[in-house]
Amino acid sequence: MCGIIGYTGTKQAVPVLISGLSALEYRGYDSAGISVYEEGIITIKTEGRLKNLTNRIKAGRKIKGHTGIGHTRWATHGEPSERNAHPHLSSRLSLVHNGIIENYQELEQMLSSEGYRFRSETDTEAAAHLIDYFYKQSKDPVAALHAAARAIRGSFAFAVMFKGDRENLYAVRSGSPLICADTPNGSYLASDIPAILPFAKEYYQLPENVVAVLSPKGINFFTADGAEIIPEKSQITWSVEAAKKCGYNHFMLKEINEQAEALRNTVLPRLRDGVPYFDCDILDRNIEEIGEIKIIGCGTAMHAGLVGKNVIERFARIPVSVEIASEFRYGNPILRKDTLVILISQSGETADTIAALELAKSAGAKTLAIVNVLGSTISRLADYVIYTWAGPEISVASTKAYTVQCAVLYQIAFKLALVRHQISEGQCRDLCERQANSLPAAIDAALKMSGRIKRLSEKIAEYENLFFIGRGIDAEICKEGSLKLKEISYIHSESYPAGELKHGTISLIDANVPVIAVITVSQVLDKTISNVREVKSRGATVFSVCTKAAAEAVEPMSDYTLVLPETDEIFAPVVAIIALQILAYYTAVARNCDVDKPRNLAKSVTVE
Ligand code: F6R
Repeated sequence: MCGIIGYTGTKQAVPVLISGLSALEYRGYDSAGISVYEEGIITIKTEGRLKNLTNRIKAGRKIKGHTGIGHTRWATHGEPSERNAHPHLSSRLSLVHNGIIENYQELEQMLSSEGYRFRSETDTEAAAHLIDYFYKQSKDPVAALHAAARAIRGSFAFAVMFKGDRENLYAVRSGSPLICADTPNGSYLASDIPAILPFAKEYYQLPENVVAVLSPKGINFFTADGAEIIPEKSQITWSVEAAKKCGYNHFMLKEINEQAEALRNTVLPRLRDGVPYFDCDILDRNIEEIGEIKIIGCGTAMHAGLVGKNVIERFARIPVSVEIASEFRYGNPILRKDTLVILISQSGETADTIAALELAKSAGAKTLAIVNVLGSTISRLADYVIYTWAGPEISVASTKAYTVQCAVLYQIAFKLALVRHQISEGQCRDLCERQANSLPAAIDAALKMSGRIKRLSEKIAEYENLFFIGRGIDAEICKEGSLKLKEISYIHSESYPAGELKHGTISLIDANVPVIAVITVSQVLDKTISNVREVKSRGATVFSVCTKAAAEAVEPMSDYTLVLPETDEIFAPVVAIIALQILAYYTAVARNCDVDKPRNLAKSVTVE
């Protein structure tokens, strides 16, 4: 949440900062601002979307300067306003911040007694004055940042520029991500890779509590005890195009359309002799050590975990539980020596998932991360990591990341099933082959149905409440379909296992509450059909998303039936979710919602 960009070098800073902020706007979009070193530090801030800031900059005189910092905000403390926007200033510096400072009131009290005046309602201003306070004493920016990092409780990523220090930027972080890149044209820092994609090919993840000093000539890193270190560099594997809309109206639509390719990219490199090979000890060599699995994540990533539970238990017969990271971290989890904890995260920076990972590690469990961002915090902290190859996901509503997370979990299920003799090598090869070839083809076929799905969306857009129902793995797919619809179209929807409705919730069904029934599981086809009949007879308009095999049975009681492209039954739910993503997308478009930037949300939740 919140985007940070910083630059010092030979180029004009303003265009670099604006380019970085537009690439980061998905991380927060309620206000934005920049500070640039001209004769002194010039700061411009505006409320609202980034275009307000760019318009203000264009309307003013040209700002010339080669060093600057920028920020796009997702408010945590203080309403979205110009006053609360970053950068925040103190007597000797300008600062941008991601994260939450938990002890800001304590710090404010101390700093007020030292004569500092507070102008905003943010926690960040305390950090600006605190660093200023330490800098006033030591005259050493590095020491001041270290002293502030020690005094602050909470999570933070700071980028700071000091008055009288025209060429250097300073950064420190704890709990919130920050990356730096040195290039022949200067040095960059950012909260996220897309901001530096046009400028750099590799980057450093700033280690926690290490101060980075960025100059036009390079970057130096200092630990709290004064030692200079060189952190490991990571390559940027994403192309600049991957972070652009490339002719699509929204990133979400582009990313929905990239799913067959993302799936192939994720699955194919992990096949050796036709069976899954992860290049990871716990899954390749010591897989027998796994006695049970806990899958942890938030939101869509957790929903992928639910699909994972279904397929792992079905194929490998290993008990799996799925936990919401924010609950797990404050729960009292029972972790055994043979528990494998799988953490799922697109960004690899979700604060609750990081905390859950730390808890699992400290309890002695083995941890495996399924992550999309190379070198992210979760990928570095976990004992083992499997990367998904979805490319950058810019849309706040996650789509392709979910599909590839599910794909990896299917592969894990097949591998575990093979090792535990639940399936033969031939069966395993066959499943993998179909996942790598027939499934992407079915996904592409589902994408071709967009026109029909769009027409259904226009009908759904008229309602304010609806239900998704399904059984078995379809119930898990419904949870994700419901989340997608809610977050971008603002239609209230609930997802229910179809058989559970009649235990109370069915009282909500009437002609104003349609039901979307997902039906791909043949084993419970008749049961789901009965449930559809129940809601139909209570007046609901029924939209069925189903396999060809289910269509004939459901059509008589369904007002609208979307027959999914044919694929193996075990992969049909993955095809169904593509249809539900498209449905959510066009519903949001029909309701004139800002699809890529839904209200109150931001990508990558790096605060609790
Ligand atoms: C919903 C969505 C969120 C994320 C969740 C976890 O569309 O994107 O629910 O899935 O915030 O984020 P990551 O996967 O980055 O840990």
